[in-house]
Amino acid sequence: MNLRPGMRESATFDRNVIHEIQRAAETGIYSIRGWGAKRALPHFDDLVFLGASMSRYPLEGYREKCATDVTLGTRFAKKPLLLQIPITIAGMSFGALSAQAKEALGRGATAMGTSTTTGDGGMTSEERGHSRLLVYQYLPSRYGMNPDDLRAADAIEIVLGQGAKPGGGGMLLGRKISERIAQMRTLPQGIDQRSACRHPDWTGPDDLAIKIEELREITDWQKPIYVKVGASRTYYDTMLAVKSGADVIVVDGMQGGTGATQDVFIEHVGIPTLPALRQAVEALKELGLHRKVQLIISGGIRSGADVAKALAMGADAVSIGTAALIALGDNAPKYEPEYEKLGTSAGFYDDYQDGADPAGITTQDPDLAKRLDPVEGGRKLANYLRVLAMETQTIARACGKSHVLNLEPEDLNALTIEAAAMAKVPLAGTSWIPGVSAGL
Ligand SMILES: Cc1cc2nc3c(=O)[nH]c(=O)nc-3n(C[C@H](O)[C@H](O)[C@H](O)COP(=O)(O)O)c2cc1C
Repeated sequence: MNLRPGMRESATFDRNVIHEIQRAAETGIYSIRGWGAKRALPHFDDLVFLGASMSRYPLEGYREKCATDVTLGTRFAKKPLLLQIPITIAGMSFGALSAQAKEALGRGATAMGTSTTTGDGGMTSEERGHSRLLVYQYLPSRYGMNPDDLRAADAIEIVLGQGAKPGGGGMLLGRKISERIAQMRTLPQGIDQRSACRHPDWTGPDDLAIKIEELREITDWQKPIYVKVGASRTYYDTMLAVKSGADVIVVDGMQGGTGATQDVFIEHVGIPTLPALRQAVEALKELGLHRKVQLIISGGIRSGADVAKALAMGADAVSIGTAALIALGDNAPKYEPEYEKLGTSAGFYDDYQDGADPAGITTQDPDLAKRLDPVEGGRKLANYLRVLAMETQTIARACGKSHVLNLEPEDLNALTIEAAAMAKVPLAGTSWIPGVSAGL
């Protein structure tokens, strides 16, 4: 499309909107894709740290320690998870991802002393074998669920929703349902699958409490039980998940990635990570359980700055999905000619549902999947996690903290009024928190 002087693009009907209307008119099918929300949303970028100078004292990078360890599941579980870094790998299904990608995630997480997570579709032997700490997802679909795998896991995550689609269920298109996937999920091969949006055997917090107790019995009260929610009414959802007996709450914001969902869902349902995090922390504080029931936040985490901001706002750890896939090699420029053949480009590829990923990550095609070397992928992911951890430490030291979990809201300012209101930290250069204080 050539935009020449005098031609005005409509803000309401911009080229993407026009393209989507034309596509819908042509096909009669809504748009499905992977990745997370693509439009600009209030985010951690709208916050900055107040580094120490006179009124605060920074720590010396080479001489003074800044610890990064975190323990998850200290409320009821006999065996909480001790992580070396407060960054975990989010649940991504074997189905959405190749077996090689799952193995690489396990290898990378293990090298950095953190956990990885299964996903819709169950646990593979490759990922269990290469993950020292593996969180097992218990999803509405129950695909691939069995009590032996529950016992083989190090923690259990009951998934109520995802940030990319709160209130919606999973999708795996037929072209990704290989023989192995079909067998694990007890589904017919090659037929589109839509998984349930809610658990079949309980409807509210009282039933969930019974379910949690059942899972504790099966696993002899050893494993921490997480509850994962997509960000929407996060204050109440956190309260109810805690009341139901969760050890750890996982909140996934609107920027959170997905393997495949309707575009309209990804862009228009749920609330951004920033306000969801603040609401979850408020709920935990209200219950007197902040830092006792741990909080993991996800949805658009990319850098150590994001990690540090999430911790400062009150999270105990973060979880990453999309960034971990990019670290493995998703959207790598070396596959540009192949991305072009698919009608896209490196950095824009989000057709995870198609199973044609040239990088061998979001595919079940054996030839494509072979392109990802799990050892090399694991090494790259470990490098990336190391950088995130070091960046987080750098910021924590600059704020005078000897542990990254000592970062606090008082270390933050907001650059926009929206972010100040959502995160409840002062607008930079003022003491004004919209809705909280008048301030100067
Ligand atoms: C390819 C892919 C597959 C996913 N599969 C699952 C899943 O099976 N279960 C689940 O709870 N979340 C799933 N998610 C969401 C992640 O667990 C996580 O909430 C999200 O990716 C975090 O946001 P981020 O991608 O911006 O880091 C998936 C995400 C991606 C990118």
